[in-house]
Amino acid sequence: MIVDVELGARRYPIHIEAGLLGRAGALLAPLVRPRPDGNRLVVVSDTHVAPLHLPALTAALAESGVEAVPVILPAGEASKSWAGLEQLCEALLAHGVERRDVVVALGGGVIGDLTGFATSVLRRGCGFVQIPTTLLAQVDSSVGGKTAINAAAGKNLIGSFHQPAMVLIDPTVLATLPPRELAAGYAEVVKYGLLGDANFFSWCEAHAARLLAGDAMVQAEAIAASCRAKAAIVAADERETGDVRALLNLGHTFGHAFEAEAGFSDRLLHGEGVALGMALAFDFSARTGLCSPDDAARVRAHLAAHGYPLSPRALGLDAPPERLLAHMMQDKKVEAGRLTLILVRGIGQAFVAHDVDKAEVQAFLAHALAA
Ligand code: NAD
Ligand code: GLY
Repeated sequence: MIVDVELGARRYPIHIEAGLLGRAGALLAPLVRPRPDGNRLVVVSDTHVAPLHLPALTAALAESGVEAVPVILPAGEASKSWAGLEQLCEALLAHGVERRDVVVALGGGVIGDLTGFATSVLRRGCGFVQIPTTLLAQVDSSVGGKTAINAAAGKNLIGSFHQPAMVLIDPTVLATLPPRELAAGYAEVVKYGLLGDANFFSWCEAHAARLLAGDAMVQAEAIAASCRAKAAIVAADERETGDVRALLNLGHTFGHAFEAEAGFSDRLLHGEGVALGMALAFDFSARTGLCSPDDAARVRAHLAAHGYPLSPRALGLDAPPERLLAHMMQDKKVEAGRLTLILVRGIGQAFVAHDVDKAEVQAFLAHALAA
């Protein structure tokens, strides 16, 4: 299955196929610039993913006459830093990566975001290919060209838009992903239903248990639907200059407040924060009369049924509402001190709400935390 991201001269395909990693050589070899001393492709990965999945990719490239040159970084968010960027850029230069070369990112959102950013500045920009290995990266971060590292002031504050040349998704690599990471990625799948496709949310309700239990067919279907939804949004609003791409932030501003309280640690994974945030976005929309309480209850029931932590108190993250609001005000969508939230008129009907009443949000948080 191929989903195209229609961006004119920068359009690219997303290939989704079980076992694709072992057949990736045929797709990657045409992107490799021939060299007199042998064709090479630098593959960036992390210390968890490389032992599990780099051998299959290395063998597939070798079959197509390309040598894989690995650059392995420590697994974890800390690699998305100035230090990680420096380490990666120096390694790419040491391996002789030139402007017309492509670099492969084999890993989750951390490796994808970091490699994307590094290649956007290396020699003023070279190419890269995403081979995402977490569900989150397969349905969200590998598509759309947002790249970044973190700063002391916050997450993803230093970055660029840099589209990959190709995205290769092999759903079978998810078999080695820890269940908690799989569930965190599934929150981003549900998001596509909640923001714009009520039928897809119904599909999620019917298939979530099989997806989370590791059913590769169901996972592939969810990935394809998610990539189609994301590709359409990115094609409509590549740089988030309008109100289209911002819809992908459903649940993120509320979720961010709790992720910040957790110190962006594994106390609350990003996808878990998004799940909690989506439940709160629906609850807030219901409380302000925008959407029916039944829809909000249905969303909460689906997420709760699959084990998402939806109680800040149980997580020990029930901070004072004014502090949570202060975290929300760090959001990139805040303009001139005005809070923008993605709210809903119902399941599949998200919209961008500009200049939301901060006192109302704070009162809602106080009420929600007391629950
Ligand atoms: P991650 O890359 O840290 O991966 C999670 C963990 O799973 C890591 O320990 C990793 O080593 C391990 N892992 C990855 N694939 C595996 C596999 N197949 N088997 C076993 N272990 C595996 O985290 P993530 O959730 O993929 O991505 C989170 C990052 O993505 C954050 O930095 C976030 O800011 C970013 N993000 C970016 C975008 C975007 O549009 N660019 C969107 C959403 C999130
Ligand atoms: N993950 C949000 C975006 O790509 O815009």
